[in-house]
Amino acid sequence: MSTDRKIRIAPSILSADFANFGAEIRAIEDQGADWVHVDVMDGHFVPNLTFGPPAVKAFRPHVTTVMDVHLMIAPVDPYIDAYAEAGADVLTAHVEAGQHTHRTLQAIRAAGMKAGVALNPGTPAEAVEHLLDLADLVCVMTVNPGFGGQKFIDMTTKIQRLCQMIGDRPVLIEIDGGVDTQTAPLVTAAGADVLVAGSAVFRGGSVDAPEVYGNNMRAIRASVETVWA
Ligand code: DX5
Ligand code: ZN
Repeated sequence: MSTDRKIRIAPSILSADFANFGAEIRAIEDQGADWVHVDVMDGHFVPNLTFGPPAVKAFRPHVTTVMDVHLMIAPVDPYIDAYAEAGADVLTAHVEAGQHTHRTLQAIRAAGMKAGVALNPGTPAEAVEHLLDLADLVCVMTVNPGFGGQKFIDMTTKIQRLCQMIGDRPVLIEIDGGVDTQTAPLVTAAGADVLVAGSAVFRGGSVDAPEVYGNNMRAIRASVETVWA
């Protein structure tokens, strides 16, 4: 495996202090986050509710890296323009969220964003095989979406299969759920490019102790480097 592969760490602000998003986003970026992952939940596609477009728009001025918006909502299409307007850089929709993911990905790109497609743990890699020319990112869920802090589900063979299917295409593989220093090496060895981590980044820190976020991210990066040693 090449040593020049770049692994991006995308802290999920689902684990941040909900009364202090601006400062939390600045803190994780100051401490080395590559992307900022925003989990949008609708209480319908997943059994939890989080943010809508006005909240995401309020996060935007605080993000200087990449605002990576993960939609756990159904339907998706009526809201694509609202998330473009809110300033999402990457907009990811679940393949399970509707019958016409091909159209959804086209609409996300047409609205000027990078298009992501996410797969629940029970969904096979083949569900996105015919979507890869329309996707910039495939998000492999390693928990059932809806909540932070859940136990990692091993999706190694799915990640490997996706790597083969993607081939030379410029499509990133993102892993979301239960990523920590124990699981990051497994998914990285299998082919992950972007590691979403909520609890493992925010645990023990705060905007008053942001160095803890930095230490947590450095620990994840160090765990991954052993993959290439
Ligand atoms: C789960 C979300 C994840 C979650 C990750 O539905 O999509 O982004 O916040 O949290 P951890 O890292 O705590 O599993
Ligand atoms: Zn997510």
